[in-house]
Amino acid sequence: MADRPESEELVLSFLAEATDEFVSGEAISGKLGFTRAAVWKHVEALRGRGYRIDAMPARGYRLVGVPDRLTALEIRPLLNTHDLGQVVHSYDELTSTNDRAKELADEGAEHGEVVVAEAQTSGRGRRGRTWVSPARKNLYFSVVLRPDLPPARAPELTLVASVAVSEALRQAGVDARIKWPNDLLASGKKIAGILTELAADPDRVEWVVLGVGVNLNARAEDFPADVRGEATSILLERGQPAPRALFAAACFTALEGWLDRHAEGGFAAIREAWRERSATLGREVSVRLDDREIVGTAEDLDETGALLVRTPAGLERILSGEVRLLRPR
Ligand code: BTN
Repeated sequence: MADRPESEELVLSFLAEATDEFVSGEAISGKLGFTRAAVWKHVEALRGRGYRIDAMPARGYRLVGVPDRLTALEIRPLLNTHDLGQVVHSYDELTSTNDRAKELADEGAEHGEVVVAEAQTSGRGRRGRTWVSPARKNLYFSVVLRPDLPPARAPELTLVASVAVSEALRQAGVDARIKWPNDLLASGKKIAGILTELAADPDRVEWVVLGVGVNLNARAEDFPADVRGEATSILLERGQPAPRALFAAACFTALEGWLDRHAEGGFAAIREAWRERSATLGREVSVRLDDREIVGTAEDLDETGALLVRTPAGLERILSGEVRLLRPR
């Protein structure tokens, strides 16, 4: 039947909205207008595609596992977004998802299109660093955004993304905190990072590419020896693997939610959430600036997203720099 895959996707979306909870066959058939027998057939077909779905006579169905692949087929039915991730360009391997997303943006890709890769051969971090990107372990994606913003406000989007990624990590059971501006830390180690690139006219952003890397199922031996002590993953933090497609969908959904709040309410709508999730505020920090290093207490995030650091010489407003947290809490 020509409509079968589409109906399967509908059943899958319905189950995904209630991940880890049972949904009765009656509720699914009532909502989607299928017979109970058709619901059962679609569940069987989904199982054949690698989805793990529990069935219990009096309780219904429960989605407990999705195939460990990151293509539109796995991610889209799990999404709860209007734009973000509705188009997914997926690759087995890329140099960097940011590079591909920038090409697509130049070719006219629309707001919300996402590039995902199973592996990156030249994954890039901030300040010329490498982002370790082993195959099929983690999440590497870049999203094309076309925000209505002057270029000077584009850095706010990186802070928005850090709030969204920390939210997705918390939903996955990891208490992730943000080191200014946008490093995600768990147990004091790096679990995710964000690399933002953009093209702009003097008064208007043309596109922004937000690149996000999240360590999901990497083990210690997947990180090179020189970063092993500073990096962690959901698997290392929780002792159990994260379903990658589910995490990707949760991350895209959180990202769109926070981007929408930012579009409506400006940075004020983000600032408090960033503060709540911060690993930086209240801490002694050293900040490497272009021409010098300062040491002081990270006091606050101002209304533009700049970090305010109290030093013996006064209050410094930091727009860009490398923060090191001093003294463990
Ligand atoms: C950092 O913390 O230094 C930023 C890391 C950003 C890594 C992601 S992985 C997906 C995207 N593609 C890249 O090459 N980099 C970003």
